[in-house]
Amino acid sequence: MGQRAAIILAAGQGTRMKSSRPKVLHEVAGRAMLDWSIALAESVGCAPIVVVTSPGAPAVAAHVEARLGRASVAIQDPALGTGHAVRCGLPALDGFEGDVVVLYGDTPLIPADAVERLFQALAHGDALGVLGFEAADPGAYGRLVQNEEGDLEAIVEASEATPDQLAITLCNSGVMAGRADTLSSLLMRITNDNAKGEYYLTDAVGLARADGLGCRVAMCSETDVLGVNSRVELAAAEAAFQASRRRALMEAGVTMQAPETVYLSHDTQIAPDVLLEPHIVFGPGVSIASGARIRAFSHIEGAQIGEACEVGPYARLRPGAVLEASVKIGNFVELKKTHMARGAKANHLAYLGDGRVGEAANIGAGTIFCNYDGYTKNLTEIGAGAFIGSNSALVAPVQIGEGAYVGSGSVITGNVAADALSVARARQVDRPGWAAAFRARMSALLAGKGKD
Ligand code: UD1
Ligand code: CA
Repeated sequence: MGQRAAIILAAGQGTRMKSSRPKVLHEVAGRAMLDWSIALAESVGCAPIVVVTSPGAPAVAAHVEARLGRASVAIQDPALGTGHAVRCGLPALDGFEGDVVVLYGDTPLIPADAVERLFQALAHGDALGVLGFEAADPGAYGRLVQNEEGDLEAIVEASEATPDQLAITLCNSGVMAGRADTLSSLLMRITNDNAKGEYYLTDAVGLARADGLGCRVAMCSETDVLGVNSRVELAAAEAAFQASRRRALMEAGVTMQAPETVYLSHDTQIAPDVLLEPHIVFGPGVSIASGARIRAFSHIEGAQIGEACEVGPYARLRPGAVLEASVKIGNFVELKKTHMARGAKANHLAYLGDGRVGEAANIGAGTIFCNYDGYTKNLTEIGAGAFIGSNSALVAPVQIGEGAYVGSGSVITGNVAADALSVARARQVDRPGWAAAFRARMSALLAGKGKD
């Protein structure tokens, strides 16, 4: 594989989002659209990666700087078209001599193999490769004009196209690859002598052909290159991702009883023979091992779920929840930064934050790990085989020894030794006959009042 670089265009205004947040930082499947493009570039081996942004979106520059470093930020000011934008990105490649692909910060779902095919076209001697698709409604897309041999002759913007060209349904995704030096010299010759008065990246194809260079189309689907300009298109991209990821998981052996109600993140990892009941939401950072069952209405993010675990219904696993094999987390149980060793159980109504629960320990209904004093978070440690009675508050930092019992309703503020019983609640007081005597006294009182 030769050297590869990517230039990601993200200098558009994104006004149709009607948002104070830059368009490319809006998320699809829990990841900013710009990060989808960066991840794509990385997955096909691009380094360096340059993001072209506008001075009006400092949040984008900051995002790129944090993720890729300052050298990866290029500013386009003012925005004079896609060709101009790529030109603004080239200096940041600084001496780079390999192949460059142009990607977009608002086009999150492009598959890596499509970009790989563009690079392959370059490897086979073409000067430029362009990712094209058959459009159901070609509308304003640039049209890909091919000759009889199927070579790409030109890209014609809809605003410049003849009626014959407008009838072409093979459209330009915008994604283009070329050798850095070729691309650079072609871009220097692009003019803004056109309907929009912009420097069109697409004109590079016509110029290359005039020089006798070969240009080729690599095909992908329309959904692969779905660009996001509005909230409606953002939802469409989300739906397209969800549909394809659900299908891929089911094909890989995951059972989904109602796939359309399961919301996955870009990185959700689910092993074969996991069963997902309806209505489950996955935030980023979740992995589930084989044989686990996730029951309905659960919300899970940043969690590792081991083999044959059962989670839910109505469970909430927050970041740092780690379940070893055969753990059971039942209804209305919330976990945060808590490790449950093999076979441990919390079946009903509990908050377990900042904890370590030993093998086969049983956490009773209503247990709270009181992990926060308003300033710091403290650890609750529960030994293997311990039994925490219902409605107990464990005030951290605190340790419950192996095999210990905590009596129901206890507020535990000190450590409990292994195999001990700790009960921390008011003692029960019994008065035989008190209720009957009380009732007799009250009825006599009422009867006396009635005579008046
Ligand atoms: C572009 C293509 C068109 C293609 C379509 C696919 C050109 C001239 N036309 O048209 O053939 O079918 O994309 O969606 O390239 N951008 C900048 N700086 C600029 C202009 C644009 O960074 O000065 C970025 C935008 O943020 C956007 C992308 O480039 O992400 C595309 O720009 P846009 O103006 O939407 O191009 P289209 O007219 O849609
Ligand atoms: Ca566009």
